[in-house]
Amino acid sequence: MESHPSAEAGRALSRPVSSNQDAPHPRLDELVRRHLATPFRKPPAPYSVAAFEAVARCREGRPLVLDSACGTGESSARLAWRHPQALVVGIDQSAKRLERGQRKLRTAWPPNLMLLRADVGDVWALMAQAGWRLAEHHLLYPNPWPKAEHVMRRWGTHPRLPALLALGGRIELRSNWAVYAQEFARALRLAGRQATLDVPGPAERADPVSPFERKYRDAGHTLWRVLSPEVQAGKTPVDR
Ligand SMILES: C[S@@+](CC[C@H](N)C(=O)[O-])C[C@H]1O[C@@H](n2cnc3c(N)ncnc32)[C@H](O)[C@@H]1O
Repeated sequence: MESHPSAEAGRALSRPVSSNQDAPHPRLDELVRRHLATPFRKPPAPYSVAAFEAVARCREGRPLVLDSACGTGESSARLAWRHPQALVVGIDQSAKRLERGQRKLRTAWPPNLMLLRADVGDVWALMAQAGWRLAEHHLLYPNPWPKAEHVMRRWGTHPRLPALLALGGRIELRSNWAVYAQEFARALRLAGRQATLDVPGPAERADPVSPFERKYRDAGHTLWRVLSPEVQAGKTPVDR
């Protein structure tokens, strides 16, 4: 693993994920198949409904890029500059992180960026119900929930997985925990999507996409990436 000038500081801040799982969860396939077969009917929280309605008001037919659990929204701003024709929406449940990002971005706010506080699972469900499709969906460094008993809080095995899948689009997930990335890739494949798992090269490592990527890179962690290209709407899941 390459060294980096601020590696010492990073190491002090961030340890590798420690878990009682060293491989994908043994119930992963069963959980994914169960979620795909059973709708999750939890009603969305009012703050998530408000966020969805705000996006609906501003969308104006533009392609939609979603940065789910965006933290401060630094990655969302980067995506917005990269895709000026799209509406880029960063969503996080932490008001504190969003406020920190809003303060930082104030003088350089891309015109096509919205940062909103909501539960992303709720927003996926609301968008899916409305029949929306995404151009791109980014899931950068989700909370790992490393205890095996918390497996259903990870996105690949979450009851909201069907809503995430219904939104389509090119999906990119990054994690500093190999097991998380392996589980997510397997879940996508079980749902009939292609998914590749790799480790971004030195050029990408030199230019972190988000604050957590920077922090984990500086701590010398391996950074994992799952990429899943767009699929045609209505494609039947295979291997169920
Ligand atoms: C490890 S941080 C990663 C932040 C950012 N994506 C990055 O890479 O810098 C995980 C983020 O997920 C957010 N989060 C966790 N569960 C969420 C949920 N259900 N809805 C919205 N945000 C959530 C947390 O508030 C936190 O900001």
